[in-house]
Amino acid sequence: MTERSLRDSPTDSRRPRVLVTRRLPERVEAALRAQLEVTRSADDVPLSESALARSLHEYDAVLPTVTDRFPAHLFAQRDASPPFRCRLLANFGVGVNQIALEAARGAGIVVTNTPDVLTDDTADLTMLLMLALLRRAGEGERELRAGRWTGWRPTHLLGRRLSGKTLGIVGFGRIGRAVADRARLGFGMPVLAWTRTVPTDAAARAGVEFVPTLDALLPRVDILSLHCPATPDTRHLIDARALAQLRPHAVLVNAARGDVVDEAALVDALERGALAGAALDVFEREPIVHPGLLHRDDVVLLPHQGSGTVEAREAMGLRALENLRAFFAGEPPRDRVV
Ligand code: DGY
Repeated sequence: MTERSLRDSPTDSRRPRVLVTRRLPERVEAALRAQLEVTRSADDVPLSESALARSLHEYDAVLPTVTDRFPAHLFAQRDASPPFRCRLLANFGVGVNQIALEAARGAGIVVTNTPDVLTDDTADLTMLLMLALLRRAGEGERELRAGRWTGWRPTHLLGRRLSGKTLGIVGFGRIGRAVADRARLGFGMPVLAWTRTVPTDAAARAGVEFVPTLDALLPRVDILSLHCPATPDTRHLIDARALAQLRPHAVLVNAARGDVVDEAALVDALERGALAGAALDVFEREPIVHPGLLHRDDVVLLPHQGSGTVEAREAMGLRALENLRAFFAGEPPRDRVV
Protein backbone atom coordinates (compact mmCIF):
# COMPACT_ATOMS: atom_id res chain seq x y z
CA MET A 1 0.00 0.00 0.00
CA THR A 2 1.23 3.45 -0.82
CA GLU A 3 0.32 5.70 2.05
CA ARG A 4 -0.09 9.43 2.03
CA SER A 5 -0.08 11.36 5.23
CA LEU A 6 -2.93 13.84 5.48
CA ARG A 7 -1.31 15.59 8.40
CA ASP A 8 -1.06 19.33 7.98
CA SER A 9 0.42 19.83 11.39
CA PRO A 10 3.52 18.27 12.92
CA THR A 11 3.02 14.72 14.18
CA ASP A 12 1.26 14.84 17.51
CA SER A 13 1.63 11.53 19.29
CA ARG A 14 -1.30 12.39 21.57
CA ARG A 15 -3.74 12.34 18.69
CA PRO A 16 -5.19 8.97 17.64
CA ARG A 17 -3.47 7.51 14.61
CA VAL A 18 -6.10 6.62 12.00
CA LEU A 19 -5.81 4.86 8.65
CA VAL A 20 -8.28 6.10 6.02
CA THR A 21 -8.47 3.45 3.32
CA ARG A 22 -9.88 5.48 0.40
CA ARG A 23 -9.89 9.06 -0.85
CA LEU A 24 -12.77 10.97 0.78
CA PRO A 25 -14.43 14.27 -0.16
CA GLU A 26 -11.99 17.13 0.51
CA ARG A 27 -14.22 18.64 3.21
CA VAL A 28 -14.12 15.35 5.10
CA GLU A 29 -10.38 14.90 4.74
CA ALA A 30 -9.83 18.44 6.05
CA ALA A 31 -12.07 17.80 9.05
CA LEU A 32 -10.32 14.49 9.77
CA ARG A 33 -6.84 15.97 9.68
CA ALA A 34 -7.90 18.83 11.96
CA GLN A 35 -8.67 16.33 14.72
CA LEU A 36 -6.66 13.18 14.12
CA GLU A 37 -3.31 11.97 12.91
CA VAL A 38 -4.49 10.61 9.60
CA THR A 39 -2.78 8.45 7.01
CA ARG A 40 -4.62 7.78 3.79
CA SER A 41 -3.84 5.11 1.26
CA ALA A 42 -2.78 7.15 -1.77
CA ASP A 43 -3.87 4.66 -4.41
CA ASP A 44 -7.65 4.83 -3.89
CA VAL A 45 -8.01 1.11 -4.59
CA PRO A 46 -9.25 -1.58 -2.18
CA LEU A 47 -6.54 -2.47 0.33
CA SER A 48 -5.12 -5.98 0.24
CA GLU A 49 -5.89 -8.35 3.06
CA SER A 50 -2.29 -8.14 4.26
CA ALA A 51 -2.43 -4.31 4.36
CA LEU A 52 -5.66 -4.47 6.35
CA ALA A 53 -4.17 -7.09 8.68
CA ARG A 54 -1.16 -4.80 9.25
CA SER A 55 -3.39 -1.81 9.90
CA LEU A 56 -4.84 -3.55 12.97
CA HIS A 57 -1.36 -3.59 14.51
CA GLU A 58 -0.27 -0.12 13.42
CA TYR A 59 -3.24 2.25 13.89
CA ASP A 60 -5.52 3.20 16.77
CA ALA A 61 -8.46 3.14 14.37
CA VAL A 62 -9.23 2.38 10.74
CA LEU A 63 -11.83 4.18 8.61
CA PRO A 64 -12.69 1.52 6.03
CA THR A 65 -15.33 1.37 3.30
CA VAL A 66 -17.46 -1.31 1.68
CA THR A 67 -14.47 -2.45 -0.42
CA ASP A 68 -12.23 -3.32 2.57
CA ARG A 69 -12.90 -6.88 3.67
CA PHE A 70 -12.13 -7.86 7.26
CA PRO A 71 -12.82 -11.63 7.47
CA ALA A 72 -12.81 -13.36 10.86
CA HIS A 73 -9.30 -14.75 10.53
CA LEU A 74 -7.81 -11.21 10.45
CA PHE A 75 -9.09 -10.67 13.98
CA ALA A 76 -7.58 -13.99 15.13
CA GLN A 77 -4.16 -12.33 14.89
CA ARG A 78 -4.98 -10.32 17.98
CA ASP A 79 -2.31 -11.90 20.17
CA ALA A 80 0.35 -11.98 17.49
CA SER A 81 3.36 -9.77 17.99
CA PRO A 82 3.08 -6.81 17.91
CA PRO A 83 -0.37 -6.91 19.55
CA PHE A 84 -3.39 -5.14 18.08
CA ARG A 85 -3.29 -1.40 18.41
CA CYS A 86 -6.62 -0.84 16.67
CA ARG A 87 -9.66 -0.35 18.89
CA LEU A 88 -12.17 1.04 16.39
CA LEU A 89 -13.28 0.39 12.81
CA ALA A 90 -15.25 3.54 11.94
CA ASN A 91 -16.89 2.29 8.75
CA PHE A 92 -17.74 4.80 6.01
CA GLY A 93 -21.16 3.42 5.07
CA VAL A 94 -24.21 1.93 6.70
CA GLY A 95 -23.64 -1.65 5.52
CA VAL A 96 -20.98 -3.51 7.52
CA ASN A 97 -21.31 -6.97 5.95
CA GLN A 98 -17.66 -6.83 4.80
CA ILE A 99 -16.53 -6.93 8.43
CA ALA A 100 -16.78 -10.13 10.53
CA LEU A 101 -18.56 -8.37 13.36
CA GLU A 102 -18.48 -11.07 16.03
CA ALA A 103 -14.80 -11.71 15.41
CA ALA A 104 -14.13 -7.97 15.70
CA ARG A 105 -16.01 -7.87 18.97
CA GLY A 106 -14.06 -10.91 20.18
CA ALA A 107 -10.84 -9.05 19.44
CA GLY A 108 -12.02 -6.08 21.49
CA ILE A 109 -12.59 -3.86 18.44
CA VAL A 110 -15.64 -1.59 18.27
CA VAL A 111 -17.34 -1.16 14.87
CA THR A 112 -19.43 1.88 13.93
CA ASN A 113 -21.31 2.77 10.74
CA THR A 114 -22.98 5.85 9.20
CA PRO A 115 -26.77 5.42 9.13
CA ASP A 116 -29.43 8.09 8.42
CA VAL A 117 -27.33 10.41 6.27
CA LEU A 118 -27.61 8.32 3.10
CA THR A 119 -31.22 7.21 3.49
CA ASP A 120 -32.81 9.76 1.17
CA ASP A 121 -30.21 9.43 -1.55
CA THR A 122 -30.37 5.64 -1.57
CA ALA A 123 -34.18 5.75 -1.64
CA ASP A 124 -34.04 8.28 -4.50
CA LEU A 125 -31.73 6.00 -6.44
CA THR A 126 -34.10 3.09 -5.86
CA MET A 127 -36.89 5.08 -7.51
CA LEU A 128 -34.48 5.95 -10.33
CA LEU A 129 -33.80 2.23 -10.86
CA MET A 130 -37.52 1.49 -11.01
CA LEU A 131 -38.18 4.32 -13.46
CA ALA A 132 -35.15 3.57 -15.63
CA LEU A 133 -36.19 -0.07 -15.94
CA LEU A 134 -39.90 0.43 -16.55
CA ARG A 135 -39.41 3.42 -18.89
CA ARG A 136 -36.46 1.82 -20.73
CA ALA A 137 -34.19 4.80 -20.10
CA GLY A 138 -30.95 2.86 -20.54
CA GLU A 139 -32.08 1.42 -23.85
CA GLY A 140 -33.14 4.85 -25.08
CA GLU A 141 -29.88 6.48 -24.12
CA ARG A 142 -27.80 3.73 -25.68
CA GLU A 143 -29.79 4.02 -28.91
CA LEU A 144 -29.45 7.79 -29.10
CA ARG A 145 -25.72 7.87 -28.31
CA ALA A 146 -25.09 5.17 -30.90
CA GLY A 147 -26.73 7.35 -33.58
CA ARG A 148 -29.53 4.82 -34.04
CA TRP A 149 -32.43 7.16 -33.17
CA THR A 150 -34.48 7.84 -36.28
CA GLY A 151 -36.96 10.25 -34.67
CA TRP A 152 -40.24 10.23 -32.71
CA ARG A 153 -42.82 7.60 -33.53
CA PRO A 154 -45.88 6.42 -31.64
CA THR A 155 -44.63 2.90 -31.00
CA HIS A 156 -41.02 3.71 -30.19
CA LEU A 157 -39.50 2.22 -26.99
CA LEU A 158 -42.75 1.87 -25.16
CA GLY A 159 -42.19 1.16 -21.51
CA ARG A 160 -44.54 0.64 -18.61
CA ARG A 161 -46.04 3.17 -16.19
CA LEU A 162 -44.61 3.15 -12.68
CA SER A 163 -47.50 4.98 -11.05
CA GLY A 164 -50.00 2.62 -9.49
CA LYS A 165 -47.84 -0.52 -9.70
CA THR A 166 -47.73 -2.72 -6.58
CA LEU A 167 -44.40 -2.49 -4.77
CA GLY A 168 -43.09 -5.25 -2.51
CA ILE A 169 -40.38 -4.23 -0.09
CA VAL A 170 -38.06 -6.69 1.64
CA GLY A 171 -36.59 -5.14 4.79
CA PHE A 172 -38.35 -2.18 6.33
CA GLY A 173 -35.50 -0.26 7.94
CA ARG A 174 -34.73 3.39 7.26
CA ILE A 175 -34.21 2.96 3.51
CA GLY A 176 -37.10 0.54 2.98
CA ARG A 177 -39.39 2.96 4.71
CA ALA A 178 -38.12 5.94 2.70
CA VAL A 179 -38.75 3.99 -0.52
CA ALA A 180 -42.26 3.10 0.67
CA ASP A 181 -42.99 6.80 1.34
CA ARG A 182 -41.78 7.86 -2.09
CA ALA A 183 -43.70 5.08 -3.84
CA ARG A 184 -46.92 5.69 -1.94
CA LEU A 185 -46.96 9.46 -1.86
CA GLY A 186 -45.18 10.26 -5.11
CA PHE A 187 -46.39 7.47 -7.37
CA GLY A 188 -49.63 6.25 -5.79
CA MET A 189 -48.24 2.73 -5.49
CA PRO A 190 -49.81 0.15 -3.17
CA VAL A 191 -46.99 -1.03 -0.88
CA LEU A 192 -46.55 -4.46 0.70
CA ALA A 193 -43.61 -5.22 2.97
CA TRP A 194 -41.98 -8.23 4.53
CA THR A 195 -39.58 -7.51 7.34
CA ARG A 196 -38.13 -9.21 10.41
CA THR A 197 -39.23 -6.46 12.77
CA VAL A 198 -42.56 -4.90 11.88
CA PRO A 199 -42.62 -1.29 13.10
CA THR A 200 -45.06 -0.52 15.85
CA ASP A 201 -45.48 3.22 15.29
CA ALA A 202 -48.50 4.23 13.28
CA ALA A 203 -46.58 6.66 11.05
CA ALA A 204 -44.22 3.94 9.82
CA ARG A 205 -47.07 1.51 9.23
CA ALA A 206 -49.28 4.00 7.43
CA GLY A 207 -50.40 2.81 4.03
CA VAL A 208 -48.19 -0.31 4.10
CA GLU A 209 -49.49 -3.86 4.27
CA PHE A 210 -47.08 -6.05 6.21
CA VAL A 211 -47.12 -9.69 5.13
CA PRO A 212 -45.92 -12.58 7.33
CA THR A 213 -43.60 -14.37 4.89
CA LEU A 214 -41.58 -13.76 1.75
CA ASP A 215 -43.71 -16.38 0.02
CA ALA A 216 -46.78 -14.28 0.77
CA LEU A 217 -45.14 -11.25 -0.84
CA LEU A 218 -43.60 -12.56 -4.05
CA PRO A 219 -46.68 -13.58 -6.08
CA ARG A 220 -48.44 -10.28 -5.36
CA VAL A 221 -45.91 -7.67 -6.47
CA ASP A 222 -45.18 -5.89 -9.73
CA ILE A 223 -41.86 -4.62 -8.39
CA LEU A 224 -39.80 -6.38 -5.71
CA SER A 225 -37.32 -4.02 -4.05
CA LEU A 226 -34.66 -5.26 -1.62
CA HIS A 227 -33.67 -3.22 1.44
CA CYS A 228 -32.47 -5.77 3.98
CA PRO A 229 -28.88 -5.96 5.23
CA ALA A 230 -26.53 -8.68 3.96
CA THR A 231 -26.20 -11.26 6.72
CA PRO A 232 -25.71 -15.03 6.67
CA ASP A 233 -29.53 -15.26 6.92
CA THR A 234 -30.21 -13.07 3.89
CA ARG A 235 -27.49 -14.50 1.62
CA HIS A 236 -29.22 -15.64 -1.59
CA LEU A 237 -32.60 -14.86 -0.06
CA ILE A 238 -33.70 -14.23 -3.64
CA ASP A 239 -32.75 -17.57 -5.15
CA ALA A 240 -34.24 -19.71 -7.92
CA ARG A 241 -37.12 -20.73 -5.68
CA ALA A 242 -38.00 -17.14 -4.77
CA LEU A 243 -37.66 -15.92 -8.35
CA ALA A 244 -40.01 -18.67 -9.51
CA GLN A 245 -42.74 -17.18 -7.34
CA LEU A 246 -42.66 -13.79 -9.10
CA ARG A 247 -45.17 -13.21 -11.85
CA PRO A 248 -43.66 -13.02 -15.38
CA HIS A 249 -44.34 -9.27 -15.63
CA ALA A 250 -42.67 -8.53 -12.26
CA VAL A 251 -39.22 -6.94 -11.94
CA LEU A 252 -36.51 -7.07 -9.28
CA VAL A 253 -34.75 -3.96 -7.90
CA ASN A 254 -31.68 -4.25 -5.67
CA ALA A 255 -29.93 -1.24 -4.11
CA ALA A 256 -29.08 -3.14 -0.90
CA ARG A 257 -26.30 -5.71 -1.22
CA GLY A 258 -25.45 -8.09 -4.05
CA ASP A 259 -25.20 -11.11 -1.75
CA VAL A 260 -28.96 -11.04 -1.16
CA VAL A 261 -29.55 -12.21 -4.76
CA ASP A 262 -28.27 -15.42 -6.34
CA GLU A 263 -27.01 -13.71 -9.49
CA ALA A 264 -26.67 -16.94 -11.50
CA ALA A 265 -30.27 -17.87 -10.64
CA LEU A 266 -31.39 -14.37 -11.65
CA VAL A 267 -29.70 -14.67 -15.05
CA ASP A 268 -31.31 -18.06 -15.54
CA ALA A 269 -34.76 -16.74 -14.58
CA LEU A 270 -34.37 -13.75 -16.94
CA GLU A 271 -33.32 -16.04 -19.77
CA ARG A 272 -36.42 -18.16 -19.22
CA GLY A 273 -38.72 -15.12 -19.04
CA ALA A 274 -39.69 -15.95 -15.46
CA LEU A 275 -39.56 -12.23 -14.65
CA ALA A 276 -39.58 -9.15 -16.86
CA GLY A 277 -36.36 -7.45 -15.78
CA ALA A 278 -34.00 -6.34 -13.04
CA ALA A 279 -32.45 -3.05 -11.96
CA LEU A 280 -29.30 -3.53 -9.91
CA ASP A 281 -26.96 -1.13 -8.13
CA VAL A 282 -25.09 -3.85 -6.24
CA PHE A 283 -23.57 -7.18 -7.21
CA GLU A 284 -22.36 -10.40 -5.66
CA ARG A 285 -18.69 -9.96 -6.60
CA GLU A 286 -18.22 -6.22 -7.14
CA PRO A 287 -16.82 -4.85 -9.35
CA ILE A 288 -17.36 -8.04 -11.35
CA VAL A 289 -20.84 -8.31 -12.86
CA HIS A 290 -22.27 -11.62 -14.08
CA PRO A 291 -21.64 -11.67 -17.86
CA GLY A 292 -25.18 -12.93 -18.37
CA LEU A 293 -26.49 -9.54 -17.24
CA LEU A 294 -24.27 -7.27 -19.30
CA HIS A 295 -25.87 -7.68 -22.72
CA ARG A 296 -29.51 -7.68 -21.62
CA ASP A 297 -31.83 -4.78 -22.44
CA ASP A 298 -34.27 -5.80 -19.72
CA VAL A 299 -31.64 -5.05 -17.09
CA VAL A 300 -30.47 -1.72 -15.67
CA LEU A 301 -27.00 -1.79 -14.14
CA LEU A 302 -25.40 0.93 -12.00
CA PRO A 303 -22.00 0.78 -10.26
CA HIS A 304 -23.03 0.91 -6.57
CA GLN A 305 -24.12 4.56 -6.67
CA GLY A 306 -26.84 4.45 -3.99
CA SER A 307 -25.23 6.92 -1.60
CA GLY A 308 -23.30 8.67 -4.37
CA THR A 309 -24.12 12.31 -3.83
CA VAL A 310 -21.78 15.00 -2.57
CA GLU A 311 -24.23 15.63 0.25
CA ALA A 312 -24.39 12.00 1.40
CA ARG A 313 -20.69 11.21 1.01
CA GLU A 314 -19.69 14.34 2.95
CA ALA A 315 -22.23 13.56 5.66
CA MET A 316 -21.04 9.93 5.83
CA GLY A 317 -17.45 11.06 6.33
CA LEU A 318 -18.40 13.60 8.99
CA ARG A 319 -20.50 10.98 10.75
CA ALA A 320 -17.55 8.56 10.78
CA LEU A 321 -15.45 11.38 12.23
CA GLU A 322 -18.10 12.02 14.89
CA ASN A 323 -17.83 8.35 15.88
CA LEU A 324 -14.04 8.53 15.98
CA ARG A 325 -14.06 11.69 18.06
CA ALA A 326 -16.55 10.34 20.58
CA PHE A 327 -14.75 7.02 20.92
CA PHE A 328 -11.38 8.59 21.62
CA ALA A 329 -12.97 11.12 24.00
CA GLY A 330 -14.20 8.14 26.03
CA GLU A 331 -17.87 8.71 25.07
CA PRO A 332 -20.15 6.04 23.55
CA PRO A 333 -19.99 6.45 19.77
CA ARG A 334 -23.41 7.26 18.35
CA ASP A 335 -23.42 4.53 15.70
CA ARG A 336 -21.93 1.55 17.48
CA VAL A 337 -22.78 -1.71 15.68
CA VAL A 338 -20.75 -4.06 17.93
C1 DGY B 1 -23.54 1.78 2.37
O1 DGY B 1 -23.48 2.77 3.09
O2 DGY B 1 -23.72 0.66 2.83
C2 DGY B 1 -23.35 1.98 0.91
O3 DGY B 1 -23.71 0.85 0.20
C3 DGY B 1 -21.90 2.32 0.62
O4 DGY B 1 -21.13 1.34 1.19
